[in-house]
Amino acid sequence: MAVDLLLGLQWGDEGKGKIVDVLTSKYDVIARFQGGPNAGHTLVFNGEKHVLHTIPSGIFHENKKNLVGNGVVIDPVIFKKELDKLAANGVDCKSTLLISRKAHLILPTHRLLDAASETSKGKAKIGSTLKGIGPTYMDKTGRNGIRVGDIELSNWKEKYNALAKKHQSMIDFYNVNIQYDLEELENEFFEAINVLKTLTFIDSEEYIYQAKVKGKSILAEGAQGSLLDIDFGTYPFVTSSNTTAAGACTGLGIAPSDIGEVFGIFKAYTTRVGSGPFPTELFDDIGKTMGVVGHEFGATTGRSRRCGWLDLVALRYACQINGVTQLMMMKGDVLSGFETLKVCTAYTYKNQTITHLPYSIEPTDITPIYTAFKGWKEDLTQMQNESEFPEALNTYISFLEKELNIPIKIVSVGPDRRQTIFRV
Ligand code: GDP
Ligand code: IMO
Ligand code: MG
Repeated sequence: MAVDLLLGLQWGDEGKGKIVDVLTSKYDVIARFQGGPNAGHTLVFNGEKHVLHTIPSGIFHENKKNLVGNGVVIDPVIFKKELDKLAANGVDCKSTLLISRKAHLILPTHRLLDAASETSKGKAKIGSTLKGIGPTYMDKTGRNGIRVGDIELSNWKEKYNALAKKHQSMIDFYNVNIQYDLEELENEFFEAINVLKTLTFIDSEEYIYQAKVKGKSILAEGAQGSLLDIDFGTYPFVTSSNTTAAGACTGLGIAPSDIGEVFGIFKAYTTRVGSGPFPTELFDDIGKTMGVVGHEFGATTGRSRRCGWLDLVALRYACQINGVTQLMMMKGDVLSGFETLKVCTAYTYKNQTITHLPYSIEPTDITPIYTAFKGWKEDLTQMQNESEFPEALNTYISFLEKELNIPIKIVSVGPDRRQTIFRV
């Protein structure tokens, strides 16, 4: 049985949590493969909203396994808060949540290092969520990290103390004013470690292999988006993991040949939170309206998301890198009411028209070229079937399918689980 992937194709927040929840009934295992609590995945059902950060978005379904893979970085403190919230909602994760022993831990000092690094950058800051993601992946690749499996060993506190001490001298090195009470942070951390220890730690690559042998179906849930990928994103304004299809192989231990469908998810427009180039960004009332109607505020940090038109150059690039086989278009309802809609189909770069993503997409290097479309007035949020779609929306969808040469199989018309239209 193949492993299907669900990946964000833009700068994150495409609606991955919602669609994973919608698709979970078709799978046995839902697995996160990268990122950590920088992610905020929103699910809405029965009139309630739930935000998940590290726990996979299949967790609300009974009898499904939810796996946190080796490529994920876990902050035990945030993890514990997620578990507490789920328990308050009647979800007991003990029997359904599995954690890879090879996943790395975010220490309190990783978070402090993130803050020190960002502060030292001043205006050039990445706009990190400050969850310690960068420093933790740096320790992973630097071969200094602490993994979930380590906390089962007797000497792990010595390892912890050595690393935390090193981090403190690194924080001092930044020479910025970061106030902290490490003792308090560590009390909270070790308390959360004890809660983590009550969960099931596994050798997840073996688990996935056995699941495959037994014919179980697996959906790998991406975090962030392709344009935040450490290799292929808008570096250095990216996150510290591979958010693209390849990341699912290294983050779960699956072979490329085991990958089945690659679901690429995108908003009908574009958003970005944090710093970095964004060619189609709108600074006018249209952008503001998108933000208000789409409630574009970060699910993790509450920051306002920058909004702009759909960028097909960037979307095509993301489809290529990931090998997307099916597309899902989110938040079509947010575009209702605009007189005209625009889609960027090419860039002007060094006086030439190009349709690929160049090395730099800074405003000094490129200018977007737009195709305009007639908008639609109809409210999409109550629609149940694509036959109800206004003509202008069908034109918009057909244009994207033709340009990307990939079918759009799902159109989402609202945040709720039920506001999901499957196209045939
Ligand atoms: P994720 O990180 O990719 O899971 O996405 P987020 O949860 O960070 O952001 C997506 C936001 O859009 C959330 O507030 C969702 O509830 C909401 N949302 C998802 N799909 C739709 C949709 O089709 N229409 C509208 N209006 N909101 C949606
Ligand atoms: P989900 O999974 C949107 C952005 C941050 C910042 C950059 C680096 O909800 O789509 P980091 O904390 O990783 O050091 O931040 O990446 N970022 C996200 N933006 N959605 C996310 O996750 C993000 N995770 C990180 O805003 O610009
Ligand atoms: Mg999000």
